[in-house]
Amino acid sequence: MILVLDFGGQYAQLIARRVREARVFSELIPYDTPVEDIKAREPDGIILSGGPNSVYGEGSPRVDEELFELGVPVLGICYGMQLMALTLGGEVAAVQIREYGRSDIFVTDDGGLFADTPEEQKAWTSHGDAVMSVPEGFTVTAETPSVPIIAFEDRERHRYGVQFHPEVKNTEYGEDILKNFLFEACGCDPSWTPVNIITDAVEKIREKVGSSKAICALSGGVDSAVAALLVHRAIGDNLTCVFVDHGLLRQNEAEQVVKTFGEESEIKLLHIDARQRFLDKLAGVTDPEEKRKIIGEEFIRVFEDESKKIEDASFLVQGTLYSDVIESGTRDAAKIKSHHNVGGLPERMDLDLVEPLRALFKDEVRVVGSELGMPERMVWRQPFPGPGLAIRIIGDVTAERLEILRKADAVLQDEIRSAGWYRKLWQSFAVLPAISSVGVMGDARTYAYPVVIRAVTSDDAMTADWARIPYDLLEKISNRIINEVPGVNRVALDITSKPPGTIEWE
Ligand code: XMP
Repeated sequence: MILVLDFGGQYAQLIARRVREARVFSELIPYDTPVEDIKAREPDGIILSGGPNSVYGEGSPRVDEELFELGVPVLGICYGMQLMALTLGGEVAAVQIREYGRSDIFVTDDGGLFADTPEEQKAWTSHGDAVMSVPEGFTVTAETPSVPIIAFEDRERHRYGVQFHPEVKNTEYGEDILKNFLFEACGCDPSWTPVNIITDAVEKIREKVGSSKAICALSGGVDSAVAALLVHRAIGDNLTCVFVDHGLLRQNEAEQVVKTFGEESEIKLLHIDARQRFLDKLAGVTDPEEKRKIIGEEFIRVFEDESKKIEDASFLVQGTLYSDVIESGTRDAAKIKSHHNVGGLPERMDLDLVEPLRALFKDEVRVVGSELGMPERMVWRQPFPGPGLAIRIIGDVTAERLEILRKADAVLQDEIRSAGWYRKLWQSFAVLPAISSVGVMGDARTYAYPVVIRAVTSDDAMTADWARIPYDLLEKISNRIINEVPGVNRVALDITSKPPGTIEWE
């Protein structure tokens, strides 16, 4: 296992992912984790990430010298390399010419991390400081025309530093360099495969839950679905899945959940048709936050009522991902929207949590889902908000308006999928505004709803760009929506990125 110490660099998460792509488990931990705790976890190697600070900046993050005395190989990247140099007695200073972007580097010693890579290569750099003299025992292994020490090594004591970013794809031989660290320096095995992840997860769940009973709220999304499948594999019939159909899902989604979990698997599924209950609660409500609050509370109430019927359940399964874990530990963002999930339930119902995906990134969850036999459509589903279509219908949520949006959205999804765009987009959906517009169809005047197309690209939903969908695809979508969806006479395209917009309209 590799521990990545996070010094706040924008690529820190990426380092952990690249290590996992090389089939070695890795975790991101705060840079100030006590050395004792690091030691107790018995890592095979430690990576110090980059960071936005200068090592000489006031209050800049430091590292305990003892970290280098654990006998565990350490790789410092960018800020991590400078910190290693400074801590072990080298010298760091501002460079004359700052390097940002792709640089040419020249390997001067290919006996360690640069083994089997060419003498001249391109690497991604982004720094204002650099190491000026190496600590005792180190040799310089690469240079650039303007920075004489772009990488160094003390192979005897397994300490390595690179000023560039091997985790970024723009670094030509980054993968080889990381692999040399993992497999040659740290002696790791590339054994972290989807099958092993499943075996491990199943074993841990069994250990934790034993012969107790667990319940899981299925939403139709990939996370709760994979979590449920894993827990089912571990404890079989002691798991009951509860699917609360709030009537705010997209076309055929409820049917798919019932089919995948109720009919095509041996999982015990409670399908609660709460559609009318939610509609009644939402009647006349137009404020987005109020909608979220009502849906969240009602969801908890329904779930609680139903799960009480499952005798002596003591665990609640949740599809918490590694990115949620990292974010809740580090993010201190202003609240823009209150996201709804099943938060609050475990305490209310006196349940312990089982979170089998806590260590996994979204793409890893998808791989596990495929391996567990989940249908491709579900595995690759774009993210969908908990409050569902209610926050894509501006104004009043009624059965009629839900039906219009569902049909328009189904056409949009169909065309996006057929054109091969579905996986290129973070999210794509239709929005129903609370206005009507005049049109002409045949010879008659119409006065009906416009529908807005929203399609964005993003890596993590924190920022997003509006997707440049080809005109001819937009034309097809527009024609089909107007022809096939009664109540709609106009289609508009949202060309706002985030920020300043948000992805959803409410
Ligand atoms: P925004 O609209 O804030 O959305 O740019 C960012 C991501 O979060 C999703 N989203 C929600 N998810 N409950 C959820 O579970 C919510 O209330 C909610 N609001 C937005 C949104 O779909 C996007 O992926």
